Amino acid sequence: EQIEKGGYDHFMLKEIHEQPSAIRDTYRGRMLVKEGIIRMAGVDDNIEKFINANRIIIVACGTSWHAGLVAEYIFEDIARIPVEVEYASEFRYRNPVITNKDVVIAISQSGETADTLAAIKLAKANGAFVFGVCNVVGSSIARETHAGAYTHAGPEIGVASTKAFTTQITVLTLIALKLAKVKGEISNSNYRYHLQELELIPEKVQKALESDEHIKTVANIYKNARNCLYLGRGYNFPVALEGALKLKEISYIHAEGYPAAEMKHGPIALIDENMPIVVIATKKGHYEKVVSNIEEIKARQGKIIGIVTEGDTNVKRLADHVIEVPETLESLSPLLTTIPLQLLSYHIAVMLDKNVDQPRNLAKSVTVE
Ligand code: G6P
Repeated sequence: EQIEKGGYDHFMLKEIHEQPSAIRDTYRGRMLVKEGIIRMAGVDDNIEKFINANRIIIVACGTSWHAGLVAEYIFEDIARIPVEVEYASEFRYRNPVITNKDVVIAISQSGETADTLAAIKLAKANGAFVFGVCNVVGSSIARETHAGAYTHAGPEIGVASTKAFTTQITVLTLIALKLAKVKGEISNSNYRYHLQELELIPEKVQKALESDEHIKTVANIYKNARNCLYLGRGYNFPVALEGALKLKEISYIHAEGYPAAEMKHGPIALIDENMPIVVIATKKGHYEKVVSNIEEIKARQGKIIGIVTEGDTNVKRLADHVIEVPETLESLSPLLTTIPLQLLSYHIAVMLDKNVDQPRNLAKSVTVE
């Protein structure tokens, strides 16, 4: 097992560090930047179904559901296709309205999650075209779907999902860009710009990983917190949810993710000098609005950990700590902002002496209801 961990203390840490290559492996061969081409057989062969779809319904569980939420932003923003993101367990029992004009995308690392599999069967029975985004080749979901695209993350052993999440977002981004191009919703220059920026993501993830020592220091300060709040807006709202999930999964600290602006409708009541609040406040997107949320937190003595764009000075002035990530397009920023949140949870769990790779009560793949 020590050999399998490749010199890392835990599989989770190894998998966090594998993300630059996992993301590169996921777009390699599919994205030809110079030529401006995205080719994915599962999408290309079914392009009519995608562009004529009334809407896309994404079904998933856990971290994969969070990847689906990120995809909702990019599909609607650049491909102008309406998207609904559903917990598979709710969808399958809700008697949902599904027609043959719907495209259902099922996202699953393992390809074996029982609720996601059942949601697929229901969607198929109602005539929808069902597309899978799985990591495990030949898994049940990969076989049950009409077509699909694999994430090339390699085996993920740690129960808390890391590289599966960022590679799912990579695949879904490629699909959104392809559809935006085919539908004529994106200008040629913006499309090219997206491809160039996506190609740079692995090296920027690498750069984000270099904050590890600093993140460890921050982890040490907050490791005894009982509660933690994660805030983000737009593309980074799902990242806040995922950051909170990572912390509770492996450190057993209660954490909640919230859209930053919703803070005033509840969570603000919890803020005092004992409450650490992780705020994703990167430059593009709703930066000014997030900064004003940070001011509201500061006025209530909350402890602020800002995830910011390299070189930021505004948030630095207000926050107790900042963790920098390289600049990129807003639509690609989840691939970077999620990295420090994974490391923060990891270090806190290690410092609390928790079983990082196999947290209590959790399973890597939930094959029963
Ligand atoms: C379990 C795992 C999570 C995972 C979820 C969905 O809860 O612990 O890490 O996100 O299942 O799994 P899937 O394999 O369908 O992505």
